[in-house]
Amino acid sequence: MFWKKFNLNKQYNILYLDYNATTPIDPRVLDAMLPFLKENFANPSSTHYFGSNINESVKTARIQVANLIGADETEIIFTSGSTEAINIAIKGVAENYINKGKHIITVSTEHKAVLDTCKYLETKGYEITYLPVQKNGLINLNELNKSLRSDTILVSVMYVNNETGVIQPIKEISALTHEIGALFMADATQAVGKIEIDVDDFGIDILCLSGHKMYAPKGIGALYVKKGIRLPAYTHGGGHENGLRSGTLNVPSIVALGKACEIAEQEMQQDAERIVSLRNELENELLKIPETFVNGSIENRIYNVSNICFKGCDANVMIGRMKNVAVSNGSACTSAVIEPSHVLAAMGLSDDYAFASLRFSLGKFNTKEEIKSVVEILKTELEFMNS
Ligand SMILES: Cc1ncc(COP(=O)(O)O)c(C=O)c1O
Repeated sequence: MFWKKFNLNKQYNILYLDYNATTPIDPRVLDAMLPFLKENFANPSSTHYFGSNINESVKTARIQVANLIGADETEIIFTSGSTEAINIAIKGVAENYINKGKHIITVSTEHKAVLDTCKYLETKGYEITYLPVQKNGLINLNELNKSLRSDTILVSVMYVNNETGVIQPIKEISALTHEIGALFMADATQAVGKIEIDVDDFGIDILCLSGHKMYAPKGIGALYVKKGIRLPAYTHGGGHENGLRSGTLNVPSIVALGKACEIAEQEMQQDAERIVSLRNELENELLKIPETFVNGSIENRIYNVSNICFKGCDANVMIGRMKNVAVSNGSACTSAVIEPSHVLAAMGLSDDYAFASLRFSLGKFNTKEEIKSVVEILKTELEFMNS
């Protein structure tokens, strides 16, 4: 049992339940990347022996990433993460498919990387439909169907929501999108490495993933672009990454991402079984506290997340008080701004309830003991705050 050897609480005195914000690096991933920060430093574009060897390692990583999502390695573009991948994709489709139309559909609960890119395109004359969600966080497929038009060029829907864990019906969405000849993009940042994805089977044309959500370092990610889809260069230069993203490759992180994908492919299933039982234990205990409820669909939800509203509590204050507990309120990526979560607001939650909600996101290094400790600490804090 690999996870037993890597206990964040024992090593660093941190009760970490914020894996959707970022994950620690799997020690095996770190081991795989270290030689590429030391002796294996050559440029993969160099034609000498050393460069060719590094190029082989990049090739292996590309295959490892592709295998995890059922793609071909030629369809993988390495990026700095999901935000960049999303920008390359949405702006690229907008530019290259302008002759078909200027209409894009997305969802009000998407990550800001998608929403703000779409807002930028509005300033350039594109029309964006932001689909609402139901109380449970799911979109209404009839609503999507009604919004699709002959000038729709792209539908972009997140597979797994980062705040609630809600899983959108990707297959149905892509089928409807393809009926009118538009492209379908899935932000799969919170899904890849946790649940099975097959881009062909799901009908995904474009997908993004991020290393730091799956036990690889920050600053590396990938964009899947289905063969035949044309996107313009995002950065101009040496023509790297199918001409989309020029710039010398970040080899250590690419190797790390490849290794993380290989591990995920082999261990995802067993990790899921452990994590879901820990998440359920945590949730069952916390729901015993009066006036608590889960935000988002219980049935269509990923196994590692529980977003709970503790009526009357101030989630921000709670987070500040629990010094060695890492949990989140709203999305960590925008947490510098104290606003109610746009995801919970879109689901119809009042500001008061949104501010009283905490996101617990578990990962493969969590233990039963950690869950017990977090429950105890939370109960004590809530009693203190309500006293
Ligand atoms: C669903 C989702 N999309 C996109 C991103 C942005 O990813 P990155 O940090 O790799 O830019 C995140 C990060 O929180 C996310 O959760």
